[in-house]
Amino acid sequence: MQPKFLHIKKLSKSFPIKGQKDPLVVFENVNFSMDKGEFVCIIGHSGCGKSTILNALAGLDVPTSGTIEMKGLMITDPSLDRGVIFQNHSLLPWLSAQKNITMAIACRYPKMDRKNIEEKARYFMEMVGLHDAMDKKPSELSGGMKQRVGIARAFAIEPKLLLMDEPFGALDALTRGKLQDQLIEICDRTQQSTFMITHDIDEAIMLSDKILLMSNGPQARVVEAISVNIPKPRNRAEIVKHPAYYKIRNYLVDFLVNRSEEIKAQLINNTISDKDFPLVIDPFKSSSSKKKVQQ
Ligand SMILES: Nc1ncnc2c1ncn2[C@@H]1O[C@H](COP(=O)(O)OP(=O)(O)O)[C@@H](O)[C@H]1O
Ligand SMILES: [Mg+2]
Repeated sequence: MQPKFLHIKKLSKSFPIKGQKDPLVVFENVNFSMDKGEFVCIIGHSGCGKSTILNALAGLDVPTSGTIEMKGLMITDPSLDRGVIFQNHSLLPWLSAQKNITMAIACRYPKMDRKNIEEKARYFMEMVGLHDAMDKKPSELSGGMKQRVGIARAFAIEPKLLLMDEPFGALDALTRGKLQDQLIEICDRTQQSTFMITHDIDEAIMLSDKILLMSNGPQARVVEAISVNIPKPRNRAEIVKHPAYYKIRNYLVDFLVNRSEEIKAQLINNTISDKDFPLVIDPFKSSSSKKKVQQ
């Protein structure tokens, strides 16, 4: 049997607490998988461990226990197979937008000649509509433009997996909307496998094939995987008319407002078992669509 594109098994993360015997268990028994070409969002309250999971997928953090496999190979270190976009653009401030991108391409493809590297950088800058800003330094760019350079850089290394930690969280609503539209268009075109953290449930529905829901921490879990069965390509004006849209949206709001804390309490009191998490759920269909995910 072919290994899954991405397979996370029994992941946990704890931190020792000074002066206390028991550590802080941020999350435990986190299981999920991702297919190639899939767009997966994860939502959950602040502090439940989303960034810690993303950093572990990037190879930037080490889980306390459990495994992460990509195409059957264990992830233990960072690699250019995985591109990361953080909330803050993390561009090198002393390099122009173009050089920020060409440097990443040269690291990814050490044998590529200068001309091809520059052509590639131009292609990805054009993709995010920034071909006029090639020579500008990050300090000369607006927040939205910096984030677009970050997106161009991440796509330019053609990662097998793109990881995004609230990439549009620091932007105003108008810029965020424009960048979401651009990201939808690029991901539809490139079929980029993407794992993204967001606080914005409309953004999650617009972009995702699957949305993972985390219960509140400490001892958080990924409890459900929501299928977003709305045809792609999607657009902002049309998606809200789809009969599934508000069912999924209401389901996510109810999870964040009520159930994420209730599930935490039930787990602590042992009144539910987490052995079957995450449940795969399609809120548009009946509750009989709940089933245990095959890990
Ligand atoms: N180095 C650390 N030492 C102790 N606790 C930490 C450390 N890093 C993160 N945490 C804790 O882990 C939890 C999860 O953090 P994080 O993954 O950033 O959450 P999220 O991204 O969901 O908001 C938080 O409660 C945070 O305080
Ligand atoms: Mg975070």
